[in-house]
Amino acid sequence: MSNLLITGGAGFIGVNLVKWWLENHTADNIVVLDALTYAGNATSLEDVLGHANLNFIHGDIKDTPLVESLLRDHDIDLIIHLAAESHVDRSIEGPDEFIDTNVIGTHSLLKAARTVWCESGTWRKHRFHHVSTDEVYGSLGEDDPPFCEMTPYAPNSPYSASKAASDHLVRAYHHTFGMEVTTTNCSNNYGPYQFPEKLIPLILTNILRGKELPIYGDGMNVRDWLHVSDHCRGIAMAVAHGRVGETYCIGGRNEAPNLDIVNELCHQVEERFEKNPRLKDSFPHCPAGRGEKNTSLITYVTDRPGHDRRYAIDPTKASKEIGYEPLMTFVSGISETVDWYLGNQSWVERVMDGSYRTWIENNYQDRS
Ligand code: NAD
Ligand code: TYD
Repeated sequence: MSNLLITGGAGFIGVNLVKWWLENHTADNIVVLDALTYAGNATSLEDVLGHANLNFIHGDIKDTPLVESLLRDHDIDLIIHLAAESHVDRSIEGPDEFIDTNVIGTHSLLKAARTVWCESGTWRKHRFHHVSTDEVYGSLGEDDPPFCEMTPYAPNSPYSASKAASDHLVRAYHHTFGMEVTTTNCSNNYGPYQFPEKLIPLILTNILRGKELPIYGDGMNVRDWLHVSDHCRGIAMAVAHGRVGETYCIGGRNEAPNLDIVNELCHQVEERFEKNPRLKDSFPHCPAGRGEKNTSLITYVTDRPGHDRRYAIDPTKASKEIGYEPLMTFVSGISETVDWYLGNQSWVERVMDGSYRTWIENNYQDRS
């Protein structure tokens, strides 16, 4: 049995992880610490907020007194650290917050954990699991072998550079101070509750609203898509079976160019409209409702500066050492995701407009 602190537990992966953990580790107690930035959405946890094993705390990982008291009061022995600024485009528009949250924030969390877990020189049982990205490894050429744990770091965006810095800090706290850490570097996730700024939820949202589908550059940049449920399993396996001080690459064995993803989403939405003619009343601006092709919305736009061409992961080490394999096929994962976004447009609207902020103000005290 563990007492976990999950940072960033109201974000996309965090929400999925919290729900997965409550279902699969029923004896564990979870504290979620989340600052509820634009990307954090406590309403995504609405169905589990009353769960006896879950405590939700609205707060910042940089608030050292708060973090230390959470670690002590809840006797936390496992931190799964997801809190971050996570969108590459935002990191290009304004890198400062990425340094503040991903670098300073991670360091602040490590310091608090060290203080509490090593109080009076006596080590408490503990694990710090850091959730990171494959983007720290830079960009692959078409014929390069996929990233693995030995690939040298070569981050290209302010986002990936800030995550790389955080990975190094976690590593250093292990080597210098003996903190028991593990890290997972994961490929692009997709699935329910993803904020509609990332490729898959943005494209689905825009198809349904009849808005342009922006394709950066030639649309041939490649990502290794992984269903978020497989990522959650991978994190749990690294915590349970990973060797302390080690990193594990978690991927989907599922490379695809962006244009293929966008075409597939257009096609899947058309299929849903054919099967259910009532959808056109709910989404009057969607081309499929008028019998037109959703791909008519595709618009090529100026490429992202420094746009990494290809990411791909070789998960052999994770497979051998912690027993990780992705279970969800892309066909079933994307189909489930399309259905989720079709059925949860009220969630999309809530996170996109101001009503979500009002919900937070009415439901949670501000700690600042
Ligand atoms: P997200 O942007 O959806 O969520 C981030 C969460 O962190 C939000 O709930 C936000 O409110 C919270 N947060 C931000 N600053 C905070 C602070 N100072 N204190 C407390 N909470 C704070 O991100 P995500 O997609 O869920 O990603 C989670 C983690 O996984 C990140 O560390 C990211 O780098 C990593 N990751 C993501 C992907 C992906 O495809 N989404 C892939 C690999 C790794
Ligand atoms: P994104 O979801 O932002 O993830 P990341 O940049 O971390 O991989 O983008 C995935 C890919 O999709 C990336 O190659 C950029 C591209 N993209 C577009 O072509 N148009 C868009 O509107 C967005 C958001 C992304």
